[in-house]
Amino acid sequence: MSGVLDGQVALVTGATSGIGLGIAQRLSAEGAAVCIVSRDGARSRATAEALVQAGGRAVGLAADVRSVDEARQAVDTCVETLGGLDILVANAGIGIIGSVAEADPADWRAMMDTNYLGTAIVTQAALRPMLAQGRGDIVAIASAGGTKGYPDWSGYCATKWAVVGFMDCLAQEVTERGIRVTTLCPGGVDTPFWDALNEDINRQGTAGRAALMQPADIAETVMLQLRLPRNVLVKRTLLFPTSEWH
Ligand SMILES: NC(=O)c1ccc[n+]([C@@H]2O[C@H](COP(=O)([O-])OP(=O)(O)OC[C@H]3O[C@@H](n4cnc5c(N)ncnc54)[C@H](OP(=O)(O)O)[C@@H]3O)[C@@H](O)[C@H]2O)c1
Repeated sequence: MSGVLDGQVALVTGATSGIGLGIAQRLSAEGAAVCIVSRDGARSRATAEALVQAGGRAVGLAADVRSVDEARQAVDTCVETLGGLDILVANAGIGIIGSVAEADPADWRAMMDTNYLGTAIVTQAALRPMLAQGRGDIVAIASAGGTKGYPDWSGYCATKWAVVGFMDCLAQEVTERGIRVTTLCPGGVDTPFWDALNEDINRQGTAGRAALMQPADIAETVMLQLRLPRNVLVKRTLLFPTSEWH
């Protein structure tokens, strides 16, 4: 493998499925060594092995981004086994929908724990090696739902607004220390997220699903940032399938 990310190491959370998998595959194809993180260690290892079979360098780990200890351990293992950490893609997330009147507050808490706190926790863990080396790229996968509200998505949107706000603050804290922070806010993407959703929306095989963006499209957007000169930052990207507009 050789590419624009030769010699760099990336850690991608939620890299066994959907958007995270698409980004991990692209970063590997561009030459980065990739640390695959999900809660399912066997699936993380199988995903990493597929990247190795394709000619890349990768390791697969089990870590739950909601756990401070597990997130720190994942970063430490990445640094030890792959030789550093240059790029963090904080992507792991879940979605549960319902009207405010009828939603279970436990679902709001579960989404906040994974989507917001999990992103904040793994980002803090990644900052340690990045600040020490004075260089890094942090890519947060938020959502178009982090820029507007959608009826029945209140709990989910709140977590994504939280990610956008967190990253806005962080970007200003670390920019002069060589770390670029960019937040991606995609509309609908063709991933298993929709099959796991507790409402019948964009299921596999529907016209709605077919119209969505592909994980490779989000990976291309990540590469737009990573290819730019070090003094240039895309602060936030809002992107949609052409069937969707807000
Ligand atoms: N699909 C869309 O239309 C869309 C649009 C905008 C934004 N997004 C966002 O994009 C991100 C990825 O979504 P996706 O559509 O690719 O979903 P997906 O296909 O369901 O993949 C989710 C990934 O996150 C992992 N994960 C979930 N909870 C985790 C935890 N606590 N710790 C570590 N890993 C965890 C999952 O693995 P395990 O369950 O095995 O841990 C899986 O690898 C999410 O943040 C989502 O909100 C999605």
